[in-house]
Order: sequence, then structure tokens, then C-alpha cells
Amino acid sequence: MPSYSKKELMSQYVFTDVQQIRELERLQTIEQIFDPATRSRLQATGIEANWCCLEVGAGAGSIVQWLAATVGEQGKVVALDLDTQFVDRLQLPNVEVIQADIRHAPLQKHSFDLIHARYVLIHIADFQVALARMLDLLKPGGWIVIEEPDFSAARAIVGEACQSVDRVNQSILKMFTNRGMDYALGIHLPALFQNLGLQPLTVENEVPLSNGGSGVATVMKMSAIQLAQKYIETGEATAEDIEQYCLFADDPNTWAIYYATVGVIAQKSIAL
Ligand SMILES: C[S@@+](CC[C@H](N)C(=O)[O-])C[C@H]1O[C@@H](n2cnc3c(N)ncnc32)[C@H](O)[C@@H]1O
Repeated sequence: MPSYSKKELMSQYVFTDVQQIRELERLQTIEQIFDPATRSRLQATGIEANWCCLEVGAGAGSIVQWLAATVGEQGKVVALDLDTQFVDRLQLPNVEVIQADIRHAPLQKHSFDLIHARYVLIHIADFQVALARMLDLLKPGGWIVIEEPDFSAARAIVGEACQSVDRVNQSILKMFTNRGMDYALGIHLPALFQNLGLQPLTVENEVPLSNGGSGVATVMKMSAIQLAQKYIETGEATAEDIEQYCLFADDPNTWAIYYATVGVIAQKSIAL
């Protein structure tokens, strides 16, 4: 296994050097918007009391809390993240927090009934390594639920600043590409799962058409504030475009698709 310093591992994740109070607020906003759909995908696996679950990239921890309540005292949840500062606060008896990179997670093969990750693989250039590690950790017959964005779906639809918004959208695509990451990872997940022999496969593609001030617009505004410098460095958008993007994302009379989320649910074969 190659050895990486913590600094090297953290430097891949685009939100590493952002303001932590704002980051907590951004993660909690993601949870408010996307947790209901995530919970129904997790419930579709038939999750039961006493299951052992792994939450990869646990973020601010709401899904860890939900899993812990669902599997109960006889079950267990491992919350794994590069940065565990937010989940460390949970202090739940059936939750173990592990600070690690999923690609090199110090966990035992075949130990989980369910593994979930939302908006994590998109931040890993060699996401295939992370996915292979997750499958290795999953018990034969265990379930995997992955939800990833597709930023290629982004487009401004109504509003005076549509051109600025689309330039910012281009800067997001370039930022991921420059880092060797797939900005449309979500739409590639189904074929990837199929090639790994994961069946049966449930695929959902959510493409919210949002007006300014709504949840998705707000989360993308928060990301733009945190990542403004990185967007500008791509050469695709200016500081003025980012300012216009933020005003657009606040204005209830504007409409846009900010990104899509693809959710896949699959079961590992007994034979794998
Ligand atoms: C966009 S946040 C999503 C958080 C949470 N999954 C959610 O949807 O609310 C991505 C999370 O993945 C973590 N992360 C990024 N790369 C990782 C890696 N290689 N291994 C483990 N965690 C990682 C980040 O530290 C961050 O907490």
C-alpha cells in the first residue's frame, strides 16, 4: 500500500482549506435538502436492527445518526472521514469514528452489511480504488448505496445573469477536470456498477429545477463563496461572475439546474 502524509491526503479534497464554521453550515444545508431521498434509498436495502454499516465521508453526521438509530444497540455504525471534527461530537454508543482515507481504511474485509457514501467519490481522482475498497469491506450479500453529483447537467435558465452563471458552471467543470476528477461522475455510476458485477441495480437521477433562494441554489452559493478563488483560477469565471452567481442564487425569480444527483443501490453477490 503506498504511504501518504495526512497533508497529501487532505490536499486532494477541494474543501480542505475553507473556513470551518461556514463548512459546517454548508454540510448541514446539504443534509437538510438531501437526507430525505438518502434515507429512502437506505431503507430500500431492507436495513435492519443489528446491521453493521459504514458511512464513508460522514461530513456533519446526520446520516450517521439516522443509521445509528435504525440499527439500534445491537448494530454498529462506522463513521469514516478524512476530517472527523464534526462527527467526533456525536458521541453515540454504537458509533465508531475513524479518521482515514477510504482508499486505505484500516478496516476488515467483509465486515459491513451496508456501505453508503454521498458526494464523496467525486472528490477522489482514483475513485475506482475507493469503490474497490468499499466492495472489499462489504459482506457477500451486503448492500452499497452511492449518491454522486453530475455537474454536466448544470445550466442557467431564467435570469439576467444567466451568462455569468454559466461561466461559473464552466469553472466548476474545469476545476474538477484540472484535479483529474470526473465532474459528471454520477451519470457514470450505473455502468461502473454493472461492470463490477453488482446486481440488482436501482438507478435514480434527480435533476432539480430550482429557483433562487431554494435549498440547492443556497448550497451552490455557499460552495461558490468557499471556492471562489479556485473557480477564478480556472480562467473560466471572474470575481464579478461569482458575485452575479451569488445574487442569482438568492433571487426567487431566477431558475436554474445547479446539478443532478444520481443514486445507485446494489447488492454484492454472495459469490463476490
Ligand atoms: C461534500 S462532503 C459530503 C458529506 C456527507 N457525505 C453529506 O453528503 O452530507 C464530502 C465529505 O467526504 C470527505 N472525504 C473526501 N475525500 C475523502 C476520502 N478520500 N476518504 C474519506 N472521506 C473523504 C470530506 O472530508 C467530506 O466530509
